[in-house]
Amino acid sequence: MSFSEIIAYGRYLPETLLKNEDLKKFVDTSDEWIFSRTGIKQRHIAEKKELTSHLAIKASEDAFNSFKIEPKEIDCIIIATTTPDNTFPSTASKVQNYFKISNIPSFDIQAVCSGFIYGIQIADAFIKSGKYKKILLVGAETLSKIIDWKDRRTCVLFGDGAGSLIISSSRKKNGILASKIYSDGEWIDSLYADGGPSLNQKVGKIRMVGQDIFKHAVKKLSESTEQALTQCDLSVKDINWFIPHQANQRIILSTAKKLGISEEKTISTVKFHANTSAASIPLAMASAHKSGKLKKNDILALCAIGGGLTWGSCILRV
Ligand code: UT7
Repeated sequence: MSFSEIIAYGRYLPETLLKNEDLKKFVDTSDEWIFSRTGIKQRHIAEKKELTSHLAIKASEDAFNSFKIEPKEIDCIIIATTTPDNTFPSTASKVQNYFKISNIPSFDIQAVCSGFIYGIQIADAFIKSGKYKKILLVGAETLSKIIDWKDRRTCVLFGDGAGSLIISSSRKKNGILASKIYSDGEWIDSLYADGGPSLNQKVGKIRMVGQDIFKHAVKKLSESTEQALTQCDLSVKDINWFIPHQANQRIILSTAKKLGISEEKTISTVKFHANTSAASIPLAMASAHKSGKLKKNDILALCAIGGGLTWGSCILRV
């Protein structure tokens, strides 16, 4: 029996920083409102010519170089993104072309902010089935390109970035211990882009009824984390690090509190990165790894919620 071990972490953030004060140039807002309601102080913004695939490539290179892994060892590429370079081909195909690793599968998955948790479950199932042995899984977004910079309810919330994991087949009983993913299409109108190839041949801008998402977030994130813990016979007290989707500090801390997890065990990067959708969890994981927080055999609990609604959780041992 194979298990799915995390053998590398990578991340990339575009150079340009947009601070809360800078947003006053676009909309009627304040640092005080943004920070007190969301915990966000700044976000990174990609250049016009910097595409989601470029961010994904840089986060992958960081994982390859930091953990001395050759791109040619990879036998499957999965990119979670809501902001692909093109309608097609997939952003994963572009990443594959850059690294010149042909004749392996590469594809994008779209589950908005839950995309990385969906990707983890897919990668884990591929590895456990014996189909692939070393999967590059990336969450990458350039949300700044689909923001309506005149809408203060959304434009202050999002940022750009990418995070990556390399997940390898292992004989040791570690890595991904459990994962749960869910969706409820009843809430499609609460968070969406008002464009698409079939709808109106435009890309569209982000539209969100923030309170609808807020209402569901704490309950769904905590319940799915409990369900994933049950699936692998662990309990909340076994968790060393809680790494939730980074959308709002109030949601992060309320979910941790509901689960009975202390703030000290909760990883939060929302202050510096804002909401980077599918990139937020791998970015937070790579940041925690780089800062030396993650120790061998630590148990991590991940969870995310996003448009759809989609949500899910994952428990893993690093
Ligand atoms: O990643 C996908 C998952 N997404 C999320 O998890 C987002 C979940 N939702 C949220 O995080 C919160 O609902 C928001 C941060 C989006 C909004 O916070 P809120 O406490 O729910 O505020 P609200 O929408 O109830 O707005 C309160 C007031 C409104 O004014 P009135 O109508 O009471 O006069 C808004 O117009 O705040 C106003 N407002 C702002 N004021 C200054 C909304 N945005 C801003 C702004 N600056 N940027």
